[in-house]
Amino acid sequence: MSEHATNADRGQRAEAGQRAERGQRAERGQRAEDAVGAPLLSVRDLRVALPGGAHAVRGVSFDLHAGETLGVVGESGCGKSLTMLSVMRLLPPGAEIAGGEVRLDGRTELAGAPETALRRIRGDRLAMIYQDPMTSLNPLMRIGEQIAEGLRAHGWSRRAARERAVEGLGEVGIPEPGRAARAYPHEFSGGMRQRAVIAAALVLDPDVLIADEPTTALDPTIQQQVVNLVRRLQRDRGMAVVWVTHDLGIVARVAERTLVMYAGGVVEGGPTRELFRQPHHPYTHGLLGALPRPTGDRERGPLAQVAGAPPQPGALPVGCLFHPRCPQAIDRCRHDPPELTDRGHAVRAACWVPPDQWAFREGAP
Ligand SMILES: Nc1ncnc2c1ncn2[C@@H]1O[C@H](COP(=O)(O)OP(=O)(O)O)[C@@H](O)[C@H]1O
Ligand code: SF4
Ligand SMILES: [Mg+2]
Repeated sequence: MSEHATNADRGQRAEAGQRAERGQRAERGQRAEDAVGAPLLSVRDLRVALPGGAHAVRGVSFDLHAGETLGVVGESGCGKSLTMLSVMRLLPPGAEIAGGEVRLDGRTELAGAPETALRRIRGDRLAMIYQDPMTSLNPLMRIGEQIAEGLRAHGWSRRAARERAVEGLGEVGIPEPGRAARAYPHEFSGGMRQRAVIAAALVLDPDVLIADEPTTALDPTIQQQVVNLVRRLQRDRGMAVVWVTHDLGIVARVAERTLVMYAGGVVEGGPTRELFRQPHHPYTHGLLGALPRPTGDRERGPLAQVAGAPPQPGALPVGCLFHPRCPQAIDRCRHDPPELTDRGHAVRAACWVPPDQWAFREGAP
């Protein structure tokens, strides 16, 4: 009798367990279904206001799918960093999100989420390598402790955090990670510091890594190593990467899709190889013209063939924002701002003059 009861009990428990499991599976399935086709990260019409009210990011939209690499290029001052810092909700004091949406998994809205929610998501789902590695390392704290501190904030025990920090340093190719963990940042070379910053970003295995000019301060050989390192880690983990750079050479190597930013907005976007094959915006064309030649005729400086500099957020020209520098400008460009339009091959560009009408004058890009 008691055995009977026990069996019935067991049966009921098993059934309840199966029901619960089925429920969970169904819920997971539903979530997966919701997520099918939904980008991992989706930014819509993002605007960032600076102190004083000028907008430094003016309606940026893009999607990032699981595992892919998106390149974001443009000269210094075009709003790349502020766009990415908005996604992380880590804007500098005074700068604020003035409009738009940032969605994770097609659902969770980050642009207006409370700071407590952001703290859980940062590191765990979204991680960022900041433009200047020295500002993201505390000079007074041992490297291992700094990485462990981030893990502790996500509920790791002291010991597990310490062990994971050492393991993380090993994963980014730092020799003798146990010893390296006890070093201070100034005891590391620039390349090693950048590796430590990457380790700190990746210890929680995020789904999205935003790399903001992670190689700019490094010499070319170390640059190459860091690019290869991020690509290897990305392959191993199936992580999506946003690679921000002013260097189209890097984008050509790492990114499947590229966004070109100018004066706080996207002027062209599409598959990287299409942008290289046929740019649809004179600014993209100018950036390509600034790439080092295969002949070794290297570096005439960024945008050597397009004179001038991008406008300041508070002093934008009317019409197309690129017109004062554009070798293809026509009258309309001086008063009528172009919108992004489809150009085929999944390319979008904001320009009134199609490439087959570009004039290739002496000195033009
Ligand atoms: N904290 C800040 N206060 C005032 N202006 C800023 C601040 N951060 C950036 N800016 C301005 O916003 C514009 C975009 O900056 P940023 O996003 O850093 O460009 P990028 O990363 O493309 O070089 C620039 O004109 C810059 O001077
Ligand atoms: S719209 Fe006119 S000024 Fe702007 S990029 Fe095109 S051609 Fe140049
Ligand atoms: Mg920047």
